[in-house]
Amino acid sequence: MIIAVDGPAASGKGTIARALAQHFGLPHLDTGLLYRAVALRVMDEELDPAREADVVAMCDFDDRLLADPRLRGDDVGKTASIVSAHPLVRAALLQRQRRFAQQPGGAVLDGRDIGTVIAPEAEVKLFVKATPTIRAQRRHAELRKGGANVSLDRVLADIRARDDRDARRSDAPMRQAADAALLDTSFLSIDAAVQKAVAMVEAAK
Ligand code: C5P
Repeated sequence: MIIAVDGPAASGKGTIARALAQHFGLPHLDTGLLYRAVALRVMDEELDPAREADVVAMCDFDDRLLADPRLRGDDVGKTASIVSAHPLVRAALLQRQRRFAQQPGGAVLDGRDIGTVIAPEAEVKLFVKATPTIRAQRRHAELRKGGANVSLDRVLADIRARDDRDARRSDAPMRQAADAALLDTSFLSIDAAVQKAVAMVEAAK
């Protein structure tokens, strides 16, 4: 069984995907990490993320990079959303994701284009969303807990800019697949959202 979980930043899709993987005993791939790994290399090499040819040269990296804690940084997420708009970058990361999705026994993948491009054949597709304000509040609380001094307005503006870039790019834009079920986590606790996701998978499989 392939479970595709898509949605915008701070919607809860990552937490839900991890919980589903654990519940159903499936391997999980956070595909955002691949774009973040490319972004981190671009930043380390001081390249211009807008230059597609330079960025493509950064797409062949060792899996060990995916464990680097710096990948979680907000600046890396922002650069990831710039490099991910390049069609050649998406093409370079495609097979890796498809191979993961198609391993025997199934898998859970989360991202922006899993249900539409990476695994359109997935048995179960969830599109996880929450209002931009609520996502900004979640991200803001997380950043504050980590000691960052950033305003809620700044976080909201960053979230809107990232949503915009991800939804408007021409290649594999973020969107709900026609056959995906919608899960709105705006007014759900993490536990309630996970329970609902498990029930949706049970109903769809
Ligand atoms: O999910 P996460 O915030 O880690 O993703 C970082 C960025 O990577 C996203 O803003 C998006 O631009 C890009 N991404 C993508 N396709 C995916 C996963 C992530 O374009 N499947």
